[in-house]
Amino acid sequence: MAMLRRGRVGTLMIAFSVIMFTMLLFSYPDPQRFSFKHAFRLLDVSLPPDLCACPGPCVAELQDDPLLSKRFNISFYPLMTKDNTLSKDTFNWWQGLQWSHNPANFSQVMEELFRLFPGESLYLDAGADRCRSCAVVGNSGNLKGSYYGKIIDSNDLVMRMNRAPTRGFEEDVGARTTHHLMYPESAVNLDNDTNLVLIPYKTRDLQWLISAFTTGTIKHTYQPVMSRIKANREKVQIFSPTFMKYAYDNWMDKHGRYPSTGFFSLLFALHICDEVSVFGYGADEHGNWHHYFENNVGNGFRKTGVHGGEHEYNMMVRLNATNKIRMFS
Ligand SMILES: *[C@@H]1O[C@H](CO)[C@@H](O)[C@H](O)[C@H]1NC(C)=O
Ligand SMILES: *[C@@H]1O[C@H](CO)[C@@H](O)[C@H](O)[C@H]1NC(C)=O
Ligand SMILES: *[C@@H]1O[C@H](CO)[C@@H](O)[C@H](O)[C@H]1NC(C)=O
Ligand SMILES: *[C@@H]1O[C@H](CO)[C@@H](O)[C@H](O)[C@H]1NC(C)=O
Repeated sequence: MAMLRRGRVGTLMIAFSVIMFTMLLFSYPDPQRFSFKHAFRLLDVSLPPDLCACPGPCVAELQDDPLLSKRFNISFYPLMTKDNTLSKDTFNWWQGLQWSHNPANFSQVMEELFRLFPGESLYLDAGADRCRSCAVVGNSGNLKGSYYGKIIDSNDLVMRMNRAPTRGFEEDVGARTTHHLMYPESAVNLDNDTNLVLIPYKTRDLQWLISAFTTGTIKHTYQPVMSRIKANREKVQIFSPTFMKYAYDNWMDKHGRYPSTGFFSLLFALHICDEVSVFGYGADEHGNWHHYFENNVGNGFRKTGVHGGEHEYNMMVRLNATNKIRMFS
C-alpha cells in the first residue's frame, strides 16, 4: 500500500514537472527562439549580465560563435564622425575602390561636410536595458505577395536601400523607413524623418552630398545622378571608410572588391541593433533575381563582378542558422 502510494506520488511529481515545463515553453514570448538561457532567467537563476534586453538571443552574442567571432568586431563604428580620421592604409584602400580623375583634397571636403551635417556618434547605448529590433529590407522580388509589411513596420528601426520604394507596396514591404542607405547613383528623395545614410566610394561622392544639399554648382561629372535631393539635413549619416574596409577584410574573404549595399546594410544593423530580421534578400521562388518594384525578371544584375553575392548570401545563411539574425524568405 505504502509502496503503491510512493509510486503514485512519483508519477504525480513527473506529471507536474512536465506540465510546468510545457507551460514555461509556451509562456515564452517567441517559442521559435526558445533558449534555455531565457528559460533559466524566467526561473530567476542567476546568470552573467546580459548583452541586451531582448527575449531572444542578442546580436552581440555573435562573439560566442567561433567562426563568426573572428569576423564580428563591435569596436568598429559604422559612421563617420566629426573627429574621425582615416589611417593611411584605409584611405589608400578606399581611394582605390573607384578611380576618379584629380580627386579633391579629402580633409578639406571632410571639413565642409561636417559644417553641413551633424557627424555625431549615435546608437552607442548597447547594454542590458536595451532591445533595439531592426528590419533590414532588401529589394528582392521574393517580397512580392509576402505580406511582411506589418512585421517589418513593427521593428524599432527599418532600413532600406537604393531605390526601394514603399508607396504601393506597403502590404509586402511596410511603410516605415528610419534609415535609407544609398550612393549617389542610387539616390532617391526621402521623408523628413528618414535618415539618409550615404555609402561613399570616393571623395566625389562626398562632394555630391554637399552639393545636393546646397545651392552651389555641382562639381561631379558622372551621370545619371540626382543633383539635388529632398531629405532632412539633420538626419544625414555617412558610412565610414574604416568600417567599409573592416567589412571587406573581416567578412568577404577577398570575394569581390567591396561588399554590396545589401551587405553593408546588414553589417550596419549587426553593429547598432540587438535583434536583426532580414527581408527581401536572395532569389524568388522561381530562382529569379529581380526587384520587387520592377519587372526585370532574370536580368542577372547579381552577376556583377564587383560583389561577392554568393559569399554574402552564405554569410547570411550562417548568421541565420546560428540564430544571430532571422531571415524571412
Ligand atoms: C577589433 O578591432 C580593433 C581595432 O582595429 C583591434 O584592436 C582589436 O584587436 C579587434 N578585436 C578582435 C577580437 O579582433
Ligand atoms: C589638404 O588640405 C590641407 C588643409 O586643409 C593641407 O594641410 C594638406 O596639405 C592638403 N593636402 C594635399 C594633398 O594637398
Ligand atoms: C523636418 O524635421 C526637422 C527636425 O529634424 C524640423 O525642424 C523640420 O521642421 C521638419 N520639416 C518638415 C517639413 O516637416
Ligand atoms: C533560417 O533559419 C530558420 C530556422 O532556424 C530556417 O527554418 C530557415 O530555413 C532559415 N532560412 C534560410 C534562408 O536559411
